[in-house]
Parts: sequence; C-alpha cells; structure tokens
Amino acid sequence: MNNEKINVLLIEDEEFDVRRVMNTIKPYESKIVILDVVSDGNSAIDLIEKRKNEYDIVIMDFQIAGGLRGEYLIKKIKELDFSLQIIVITKMTININDYEFAHNLLEAGAFWYCTKYPGDIEEYIYQPTDFVISIFNAFERRKLLKDKFRSNQKLNKNINDVLASRKIIGVSKVIENLRNQIDKYANSNVNILISGSSGTGKELIAYNIHYRSLRKYENFVPINCGGIPDQLIESELFGYEKGAFTGADKGKLGLFEFAHNGTIFLDEISELPLNAQVKLLRVIQDGEIEKIGRTDKTKVDVRIISATNRVLEVEVKEKRFREDLFYRLNVVPIYVPPLKERVEDISVLINHFLDEISIDMGKEKPTIQPSAMKTLEEYSWPGNVRELKNFVQRLLFYDESNVSTEQINSMLLFSQKFVSNTQSTSVVNFVNEGLLPLKEMEKIFREKYFKYMRELSDSDAEAAKKLGLAPPNYYRMSKELGLK
Ligand SMILES: Nc1ncnc2c1ncn2[C@@H]1O[C@H](COP(=O)(O)OP(=O)(O)OP(=O)(O)O)[C@@H](O)[C@H]1O
Ligand SMILES: [Mg+2]
Repeated sequence: MNNEKINVLLIEDEEFDVRRVMNTIKPYESKIVILDVVSDGNSAIDLIEKRKNEYDIVIMDFQIAGGLRGEYLIKKIKELDFSLQIIVITKMTININDYEFAHNLLEAGAFWYCTKYPGDIEEYIYQPTDFVISIFNAFERRKLLKDKFRSNQKLNKNINDVLASRKIIGVSKVIENLRNQIDKYANSNVNILISGSSGTGKELIAYNIHYRSLRKYENFVPINCGGIPDQLIESELFGYEKGAFTGADKGKLGLFEFAHNGTIFLDEISELPLNAQVKLLRVIQDGEIEKIGRTDKTKVDVRIISATNRVLEVEVKEKRFREDLFYRLNVVPIYVPPLKERVEDISVLINHFLDEISIDMGKEKPTIQPSAMKTLEEYSWPGNVRELKNFVQRLLFYDESNVSTEQINSMLLFSQKFVSNTQSTSVVNFVNEGLLPLKEMEKIFREKYFKYMRELSDSDAEAAKKLGLAPPNYYRMSKELGLK
C-alpha cells in the first residue's frame, strides 16, 4: 500500500457513534484520516464548499437533526462534487430487508450503506473489516472518477481547440445552411457524401462533423482514395494478417480498424478502384472487414464520410462507380457551392485569413481599399477558398499596409496563370512522382519551389531573398537544378 491518505468528513450528531466510527478504523488511522466531524447537514455542505478537494469520502449518519439530511443531503453533496463517495450509516430501526430504502439511497448517489451495531456494542460501529474495506473501495472509485473527469476535460479542451482552429467561416445563406446540416447530422451515425469543387471546404466540413459527433473522442481517419496505388488500396483499408503473402512478415492494421468507433473520411471517393468498391460495400452491409489472409471476419463500427469533386451520379451512369455503393454512401448528401456563388463570404474570408495569417507571420494586418475588395469579390476564384487563402498569404508577403486595386489586379492575373499550371508546377505529388529516395524527391521539390518563387518575383535577387538565400547561392543552386 502506498502512503496515499484517504480523507474523510464525518457527519454524525451522537458523540457515542463518533467514537465508535473512530475506533472501528483505528488500526488504519495512518491511512484513513477523519479530517472533520460535523453534526448537521448545513455545516457539512459549508465545509465541502470551502474544502472541496480535500475530502475523498463522506461518512454520514442517516438520522441526524436539522432539515438537511438523508437522500436530500446525499444529492446536495454529489452536486458539489460528483466524485466524492458517500457511505451511509443508519440506525438498527431500518428493516434489514427494506430493499426500497437501500435502493433510494443508492439512487440518490450513496456508494454503500450499513446498519449500526446495537448500542450495547461499544467498540465498533459495524463489522470492522467490512467497514474498512468499504472505505478503501469507495476511495478507489473516487480516484477512478477523478481520473476519468480529468482526462475527459483534457479531451474536451483538445476538441474545442481543434474546432476553434477549423471553424467554418462565412455569412452566406449557404454557409448558414451548412452549419445547420452539420448540427443536425453530426450526432446520428448516417453516412454522408460531401460534394463540391476543389477547395470549397469539403474536408473542413468532414472534420466538423466528426468533432461534433458522439464519436469525437475516437479517431478521425482521412484517406485520399486517389493517392494510394490501386494494388495497395485493399491492404491499406483492411490490413492483412502476418503471412498472408510472401513478404508479409508482420500483420498490418487496416485503416478501417484504426477508425473503429470513429469516423473514416474517404476523400476523392470516385477514385476508388472497382474491386475495392465491392469490399467497401460489404463492410457497410455487414459491419465486418475481411482481412487478407484471415478466414474469420473482424467487426468494425465506423462512420463513413466521403467526398468528391466529381458528380458521382455521372460516374455511376458511366459504370465507373457502383450504384449500390453510391446509395450506401450518399445517405445524406451535402453540397458545397463554389465561392463565386456566395460572394458575401469573400470579404469575410479574406478578413479572417488576414487576421489569422498576419498574427502567424507577426505582421501588421493591412487594409484593403474598398475598390480593391470589390475587385476581389468580382473575381471567379476557380480554386475556391484554398485559392483565396493562398492569395491572402501572398498578399502578406508584399508588406503593403494599404492594398490598392492595381496591386490586386496584377496579383490576380498571376493567380489565374498559377491555378491553370498548378498541377504541373507547384504540387509535388508523391504518387505521380513514384516512390523515390529522399534525395531525388527533395530535388523535385526544390526545382518546383525555385520555379514557383521565381515566377512570383520580378528578379533573381528578389527570388533569392524570398527563399532566404544569398544571390550567389541562389544562382549556383538554380544551375544545379538545371534552371539556368
Ligand atoms: N468556409 C471556410 N472557412 C474557413 N476556411 C475554409 C472554409 N472553406 C475552406 N476553408 C479552408 O480552405 C482550404 C481548403 O479546404 P478543404 O481542404 O476543406 O477543401 P476541399 O473541398 O476538401 O478541397 P479538395 O477538393 O481540393 O480536396 C483549407 O485550408 C480550409 O481550411
Ligand atoms: Mg479535400
């Protein structure tokens, strides 16, 4: 046993019984400490309020003087601190098989109760070992509840942080509607299909659904179905057993198992190969996965949110996507319209990202002239909110305190060029590039990033500065990359 002390508040109005309680626990007095003794309910409540975290256990006589006693007192104590454990001692007048009495006590929140020994037994209040063991058990329960409360508090704080950092910004009817839909469906387990163009916020919405659902303490597992080679997708999703095939010297946990009790986010669902579609359908129908190399099935409870920037109905018509799977995934459809169809959101989003990113970069937030803002509202934003966010980031690089229409125009001109080239010049796509050694992947990244920065800049010197390089180094590295 460690030297943890169990601190007790005793509520007892008869001297004789106070003595009997103390004597009963005497062999354990180094471990069980009676911190205070009071004779009525109100003084007990006052003390608990004052010394809230000091008591672990309340031992209370059921029949005390004063108004505040019995079940009512138990409930009051539990309201103050639900983890405090209450042991009730009652007079012998209670019938030993009065189950209703016992039931009411427990219902009110008592941990245990016992009937006092008759008054002619002067030494003990109750069979001493039983009494002491009950105190220890009550203490264990108190610790468990406190731990649980603490970790829930931590989790809730983390979840609130996640939600605060992934807030859905916007004032349009569309966004308001979206927020209502999220509230409405988060707590149910229905599968949701989110559709909308690239950069409209589909993943953001999926996060919000998960972290507002009852599954929020469990994993949220995002998977890009277009980002995993066809021949690997099944083993990624469902895993395999050790020895399932040559080379499988260890088993692999599938992402579905990892998402058990939580949410799986199947991004770019239209890219899922047909054979994996069949398996996915089976998981949804049976709630079981078939691991490669295993004959019996593994139960999983997973909510599926999928997303697509294609019109999945067309994929179904063209027989590239299974119709039965489509209906299983599309129980609740959520459509996110492009930014140009919700112009009211544009200035709000710009201001939001200006605030957020300028704080991150430690810069003063610039103002945007009204006519410049109008230009931004008239722009079509083909890359939607993602493009807008990148735009704000670039804007902050310019260190301009008052942004004019001309500046916006020249940046947007670049933006259009950028968006149309974006696939080839700016994004390093691990899948398209193949699985290369780090050095080679770094070279590809450097090349693209150098090109990108140079396009953003008016001169080599400016590009070098943006990259944080001395001009001679910039020149040498560009040469090495074959850019000069
Ligand atoms: N309404 C919004 N409020 C705040 N941020 C948003 C909003 N919509 C999108 N974003 C931000 O824009 C970026 C793109 O959003 P997200 O990744 O969710 O888009 P997507 O629809 O999944 O795009 P894709 O189809 O290309 O995968 C993210 O940084 C996201 O946080
Ligand atoms: Mg996405």
